[in-house]
Amino acid sequence: MLDTQLQQAAAAAVAALYDAQVSPGQIQIQKTRPDFEGHLTLVTFPLLRQSRKSPEATGDDLGRYLVENTPLVSRYNVVKGFLNLVIAPAAWLDLLRQVAADDSYGLVAANDQSPLVMIEYSSPNTNKPLHLGHVRNNLLGWAVSQIAAANGNRVVRTNIVNDRGIHICKSMLAWLRWGNGETPESAGKKGDHLIGDYYVLFDKHYREEVRQLMAQGLSEDEAKQQAPLIQEAHDMLVRWEKGDPEVRSLWQRMNEWVYAGFDETYKALGVSFDKIYYESQTYLEGKSKVEEGLEKGIFYRRPDGSVWADLTQDGLDEKLLLRSDGTSVYMTQDIGTATLRFQDYAIDKMVYVVGNEQNYHFQVLSILLDRLGFEWGKGLVHFSYGMVELPNGKMKSREGTVVDADDLVAAMVADARATMDAAGKNDDMTEDEKREVARIVGLGALKYFLLKVDARKNMLFNPEESIDFNGNTGPFIQYTYARIRSILRKAQAADGWQSAASLEGCAVSVKEEEIIQQLADFAAVVRQAGQDYSPSVIANYCYELTKSYNQFYHDYKILSEPDAPTRCLRLQLSAQVAKVVRLGMGLLGIEMPERM
Ligand code: ARG
Repeated sequence: MLDTQLQQAAAAAVAALYDAQVSPGQIQIQKTRPDFEGHLTLVTFPLLRQSRKSPEATGDDLGRYLVENTPLVSRYNVVKGFLNLVIAPAAWLDLLRQVAADDSYGLVAANDQSPLVMIEYSSPNTNKPLHLGHVRNNLLGWAVSQIAAANGNRVVRTNIVNDRGIHICKSMLAWLRWGNGETPESAGKKGDHLIGDYYVLFDKHYREEVRQLMAQGLSEDEAKQQAPLIQEAHDMLVRWEKGDPEVRSLWQRMNEWVYAGFDETYKALGVSFDKIYYESQTYLEGKSKVEEGLEKGIFYRRPDGSVWADLTQDGLDEKLLLRSDGTSVYMTQDIGTATLRFQDYAIDKMVYVVGNEQNYHFQVLSILLDRLGFEWGKGLVHFSYGMVELPNGKMKSREGTVVDADDLVAAMVADARATMDAAGKNDDMTEDEKREVARIVGLGALKYFLLKVDARKNMLFNPEESIDFNGNTGPFIQYTYARIRSILRKAQAADGWQSAASLEGCAVSVKEEEIIQQLADFAAVVRQAGQDYSPSVIANYCYELTKSYNQFYHDYKILSEPDAPTRCLRLQLSAQVAKVVRLGMGLLGIEMPERM
């Protein structure tokens, strides 16, 4: 903000001094190097054609003009053609006022004309509960959609539930065989966990069958294909495809259990969707789209009847779209889902939040959609993120491989509660309040830890580190926020500082200038995060701002500052730090406690 104001003032100065037109955008402004006095530095070299003077003399002209004619600059010095400018205290106060005047400073609202961005995330299969990888996915998807909305886009959050296929038939078959009519109610288990348990059970019996067949002399491949259980699962899939009422109704019933379970997990994580698609309702559309492409000559049929796309001219290989028996593959379903989405919404940009093991899939999908005539096909964004694992076995499930999402959330909240109980800071809270604060802090720890790192990188989730109140963590930021809120409540009770707030004539220290600058930077940080699809940019900004504020809190008096205007300034600064941190963390889906 200061730099654009300066650009305008400098362009006016050039016009007045040299009778020449330059646009504000042509004025080069950078941060002053730490070894010189000043905040912002104007580079004179591009202006020498207008001034027809030396760099030094040009800097001197402009510096003097800006001091005399604008309230922005109080002093200047020129070093080898670089004009270093000291921003006046009144300009800092003005900047703080601008931030304060806007309750949603830095966020840009969308209107009817804004681009429509559809963001897909989560997209689970319905044969097992969500795990740690889904947690990273959901949190990234939510943050990316919040950030897109804060950049003036209309956003549609979507999910494709892969609700059909051999994997679901395996759970169904195991339940029929060994379930004795068990339900989530009778088992006292979430429906997604129940179905996941039957999936595991199927696998256990199937492996046993394979082992026995191999003992009878079959090769591993033969045994895996001929095991009665897998053949039965295949039969079930065929019956499902034919619409067999018995299979369909069991499938429906079991999927309902799973959805009820997913909903609970989504709610606990604080994520939601505007529109959910189901593979069972999109895959046939995918098939017909492929047939259509075949007629148009975009795809080709092999002698065995299978349908393929030739991507060799794009440097890729040949891609199967329909098997020789006419059944669809994963890619077919994605073409169908895209078709329906495109029919339902006037999409300008499509973002898929999916793990990096599917990079190739989305590279191919982009080309296929483009060939099929989807305007956004070529420009689709695969927001590709890395794996996340736990360093120790603490939260691993019985199979020892996956970390269940519900268990993880519960453990984080319990840890937060234990930490707070031990510190005794929540002694005067009611039980309800203790529970609510523990939920906010436990989830804050989890979310912040997963979102602060570059999404593309593989990472370890370290529960202990994530909840450390003194590190680069969610709870550290939340604690600082709660501290500011407590200061403001005290100030309010003491003398109602907000109505009395006049900052006129306040002195502004270097540390205060730094925080005002950081606050003002939030708008640019939100733009940057939007351009790069980068929640971590927001997370790290919140951390840096919080760190600066803590230093300030440590070194300066706030409530006990005797000079009233200065006290006002510091309270206002505190209030704005709290506001901006809340907005920033809000983009990450992280709530802030009023006390903690
Ligand atoms: N359900 C899939 C899986 O668990 C992910 C789906 C990703 N989204 C998509 N449009 N293909 O691997």
